[in-house]
Amino acid sequence: MDFSALSKRLTISSLVALLALALLGNRPAIAQQHPDTAKMPWMNKALDPDQRADMVLRQMTLDEKIQLVHGTGWGVLRKGDPVPARSNLGAGFVPGIDRLHIPDINMADSAVGIRMAALQSRYATLLPSTLGAASSWDRDAAFLYGSVIGREARAQGFNMSIGGGVDITREPRNGRNFEYAGEDPVLAGTMVGELERGLKSERVMSDIKHYALNDQETGRTVVNVLLDKRSMRESDLLAFQIAIGIAKPSAVMCSYNLVDGDHACENDYLLNQVLKKDFNFKGWVVSDWSATHSTVKAALNGLDQEMPGDDNYFNAPLKKAVEDGRVPMTRLDDMVHRILRSMFDAGVVDDPPVRSVVDPFRGRDDAQHIEEESIVLLKNSGNILPLKSSPATTIALIGSHADVGVISGGGSAQVDAPGGNAINPHPGPSKWGETIYFPSSPLRYIRKKSPQSNVQYIDGKDHAAAARLAKDSSLAIVFVNQPMSEGRDAPTLSLPDHQDALVEAVAAANPNTIVVLETGGPVSMPWAQKVKGIVEMWYPGIGGAQALANVLFGDVNPSGKLPVSFAKSDADLPYPTVPGLSTSSKTTGDDQHHEVKPFDLKYKAGAAVGYKWFESTGKQPLFPFGFGLSYTTFDYSGLKINDAARTAQFTVKNTGPREGTEIAELYVALPSAAKENYKRLVAWERVKLAPGESKTVTLTMDPLYLSIFDTSKDGWQLLPGDYKVMAGPSSESTPLHAVLHIQQ
Ligand code: BGC
Repeated sequence: MDFSALSKRLTISSLVALLALALLGNRPAIAQQHPDTAKMPWMNKALDPDQRADMVLRQMTLDEKIQLVHGTGWGVLRKGDPVPARSNLGAGFVPGIDRLHIPDINMADSAVGIRMAALQSRYATLLPSTLGAASSWDRDAAFLYGSVIGREARAQGFNMSIGGGVDITREPRNGRNFEYAGEDPVLAGTMVGELERGLKSERVMSDIKHYALNDQETGRTVVNVLLDKRSMRESDLLAFQIAIGIAKPSAVMCSYNLVDGDHACENDYLLNQVLKKDFNFKGWVVSDWSATHSTVKAALNGLDQEMPGDDNYFNAPLKKAVEDGRVPMTRLDDMVHRILRSMFDAGVVDDPPVRSVVDPFRGRDDAQHIEEESIVLLKNSGNILPLKSSPATTIALIGSHADVGVISGGGSAQVDAPGGNAINPHPGPSKWGETIYFPSSPLRYIRKKSPQSNVQYIDGKDHAAAARLAKDSSLAIVFVNQPMSEGRDAPTLSLPDHQDALVEAVAAANPNTIVVLETGGPVSMPWAQKVKGIVEMWYPGIGGAQALANVLFGDVNPSGKLPVSFAKSDADLPYPTVPGLSTSSKTTGDDQHHEVKPFDLKYKAGAAVGYKWFESTGKQPLFPFGFGLSYTTFDYSGLKINDAARTAQFTVKNTGPREGTEIAELYVALPSAAKENYKRLVAWERVKLAPGESKTVTLTMDPLYLSIFDTSKDGWQLLPGDYKVMAGPSSESTPLHAVLHIQQ
C-alpha cells in the first residue's frame, strides 16, 4: 500500500471536509491561544485605554502592527474566497496577536440586526429600520436598539458591530435610507449616537458610517460630491459630529464616494482635519469594503485600517512604505494605537464575547416596543382609527403578503428570517437582491384583535378582485411596500409594482380605506386625498405585525413623527431624478454603481436638506418633517425664553380623550446675518400626558445647533442677534413664537 498517496489523499480529503464544514458553518471551534496574562502590565484594568494601548504597542513587531491594520479578505462574503479558520463568519476578520493577548476582531454587519446569522444556524432579531426607530425621537428606544444588537453580537461571538449609519436623507430615493436616521443632522446624530452608545454598553466595539456624503447608491464608488465647507459642516458632517460626540465609537467607516476630488478613505480634510482634529475622534478609521485606493496617500490622509483587506494596500505595500520612510513609523503606531485603545475601551480584551443562545423572545419584545414608538399615523379622517372589534365588521386585508409577513431591507443590512423568507422559504442564508419577508403576519394579529369580525386577505395582484372584496367589506386595509436595498436606489418616489393603482381601485370601491405603508423611505401618495387613514410602519421588524395591530386597534396610541419630509412628487426634490441614474443601464436589480461612469455631483441644496429645502424654496411637502398624529390632541402655550440659560419653556396639554405621548419640537431661525432662509430643529422632548394633563417642557438650545460654520475662521460662530424660536408639533406647525437674544 502506498502510504504516502493515502496520506496525501487523506490530507486533501480532510482539507475538503474542513472547507465544506467551514462553509456549512458547523466548523470545529478553533480557539485563539492566550498566554499567561499575569506578566502583561496592560492587562491592568485600572489603567486607561490609551496607556494600555501604548504598552502593547511597545511590544509589537512591525509585522504585528501591519497585521492589525488590514483584514484577511472577503471570506464568506464572496463565494470561493478562503475563510480564515478563526473567523466568526461575519463581514470582516482581523487576526489578533496571540502572544500579547490581543483578540481577533470579528466584525458583524448589523445595521438593523446581526447579518448572516443563518450561516451558522444562529438567530438574530430583526429590528425596525433605523429610519423607523428615528421616528420615535426617543433616545431610550435608540439606546435599546443598539443594546439588542450588542447583546446578540456578543452571543454570536462577534466583538465588533459595523452598523451605525448616519448619512442624512439628501436623496429620498437612496436605497439605504432605511439604514439611516433621516434628514435632520441633530435628530439623526442624536439617535444614532444613542444607538451606538447602547451597543457599546454591551461591551462590543461600535462603528459609525459611511463617512461621508455617501447619500445615494447610484454611482456610489465613482461619484465626486462637491459641497462647500460651511454647508458640509452644518448638515451632513454635523450629524457625524453629534453621533460621534455621544457614542465615542470604536471606529468610523469611510465611504466609497469621492468628496471634492479625493476618495473619502484618503481624504485629508474629512479624516485628518475634521474627524480626528475637530471632532477629536479617538477610535480608528476603517475603510468600507474595497474603498481603499492607495497606500501612502490613504495612510497619510487618515485611513487606519483597510477592509476587507485583499486589495493589497495596507499589507506588504504599507510595510514597505514604512520601511523606506514614505509612511513614518509614528503614523503606523497611531493607526495601531487607535485600534488597540478602542479594544480596551469597549472591554473586548477584558471581557471577550462568550457564545450563548440568543433569546429570540426578548429580542422580539424589544423590537415590538421600538416599532410601537416608530409607527407614524399620517392621516385619520373621521377618526376611522382606532378600529373597534365588532361582529358586524368585515375587514378586507389587501396586498404586500400581509397574510404571512412584513418586508425587510436588503444588502449588507439584511437579517436572515427565521425559517427563511416567509413568502418563499428555502434553506440557507438570504440571497443578495432577494426581498425578504419576516414571519410576522398582520392578518394573524388583526384577526386576534377582532375575533368576532370577518377578516379576509387577498394578495392585490388582481386590482378588480381586490376592489370587489373591498366593496363587500365594511373596511379595507391596503398594505403597500417599497423594497429597498444597498446597491440600488428607487428610480422614483412612486410605489413600485402598480401599487398606486391598487390603492386607487380599492379606495374607489370602499370609502373606508386605510393604507399601511412598509417603505424604506419617503414615497409619493397620489391617492392620499381618497383614503381615510394612512399609517407608515416602515420596515417594522420581527414584532411588526403585533405593533401594527396594537396601533390599529388602539391598544397603543401612535406617537411617532416623520424624520424625513415626504414630497408630493419627484419634481419637488432638488434633483427630479437620482443623479447618475440616467447613465446607468439598470434601475433595479444588481448594484448600479458598477454601471455608472464617474461624475461630479454638486449638491444643489447646500445645507438646506429636507424640510429646509422645502421651506427655502417655498414648496409644500405632502407630509412635513416632524409630522405625526395621535388618537388624542395636544395644545401648546406660553413659550418663554431664558437668554442667559438659552432655554425655551412652554406648556403642552393633552386636550383629548385618552393618554398619549406628544413629541414637542423646538425650531430656531438664525439672525439675518447667518443668511439662512430656513429654520433648524434644535431640541425636542417626548411628553407623556393623561387626558386633561399639562406639563411644562424646558428645552436647552445647544450653542452648536445655533451656530454657523465660519470658513474664514475655520470654526463655529454663534452670531450675536435675535433668534426666532418656534415650538410646536411639526416643522410646519409651530404655533408658539418668541425671541432668543444673543449678545456679542
Ligand atoms: C457596505 C458596508 C458594509 C460592508 C461589509 C459594504 O458594501 O457599504 O456598509 O459594512 O459592505 O459588508
